[in-house]
Amino acid sequence: MLFPKYRARRMRASTNIRRMVRENRLSTDMLVYPMFVTFGKNKKEEISSMPGNFRFSVDLIGDVVKEVESLGIPAVILFGIPKTKDENGSEAYNPNGVVQQAVSEIKSKCPDMVVITDVCIDEYTTHGHCGVVSDGKVLNDPTLELLESMALTHANVGTDIVAPSDMMDGRVDAIRRALDENGHIDVSIMSYSAKYASSFYGPFREACSSSPQFGDRSSYQMDPANSLEAIREVNLDIAENADILMVKPALPYLDIVSMVKSKSNLPIAAYSVSGEYSMIEAAGKAGWLDRERAHMEALLSIHRAGANIIITYFAKEAAKIINN
Ligand code: PBG
Repeated sequence: MLFPKYRARRMRASTNIRRMVRENRLSTDMLVYPMFVTFGKNKKEEISSMPGNFRFSVDLIGDVVKEVESLGIPAVILFGIPKTKDENGSEAYNPNGVVQQAVSEIKSKCPDMVVITDVCIDEYTTHGHCGVVSDGKVLNDPTLELLESMALTHANVGTDIVAPSDMMDGRVDAIRRALDENGHIDVSIMSYSAKYASSFYGPFREACSSSPQFGDRSSYQMDPANSLEAIREVNLDIAENADILMVKPALPYLDIVSMVKSKSNLPIAAYSVSGEYSMIEAAGKAGWLDRERAHMEALLSIHRAGANIIITYFAKEAAKIINN
């Protein structure tokens, strides 16, 4: 293959040729829509840093999920904003907490929708950290018990997949055991295997008021400088029987997505996080780029890197574009 006999542009010459040689395409099958559930009634509050995304109260969530379902999106992932927070995040494992109620509501209105629940206490703690805090330290092992309780309360109301996002050591195994011992052998675990201490979570923390009140998350989330460490984390999660491996964030970590894909035969998810969404929204608003095309290009890149499950705040609009 050498110019001038070989000309790469031949395969780009027309829309139909480009269609024939296209290597990757997005499908609604890949999309997971993140949703924020809040306390109270009849609440639909727009998250200012994430235009088009809302905090919904439980009574409204069923109708929104019906719309998500009608677009062909197979799954939602839920995050809770509790009425009260405390040191140990007790609303996280309240059997009647906001997420627990939302799962029941969604399962009664849309029984086929795959419901994924975030398992992490940071949205529920006064200090905003993802674990039990003592003397300014985030403790690993005592946190595992809380995560087990949280996962069980989700499984009890019918969640299909629990997604631990706390980055404590040993949580996948602890949660798997707790689920199995309580008869929830069919509840899956989607592990945030390689979750980085990223500044791209900023808008999410505004949405949940979950910024750490002291220090940062570097003692449990991964250093953005590391990639070998991601392989170690992934291997641990495989050994602990995770069903799906996740890399988070997505766009600035496509090398990690690709590497995880090459190291494992489990399904790979990538979380295109709040900051990734908001950056494109802000640039779109300023007229600096075409927001729809930029969002779709970002999602396609995440898929091309190796993710077959993509969690994105753009899911509903992406589905409309794909279905069109
Ligand atoms: C922790 C959690 C976070 C996100 C998902 N789960 C925040 C954090 O680690 O600070 C961020 C998701 C996003 O930015 O879209 N419960």
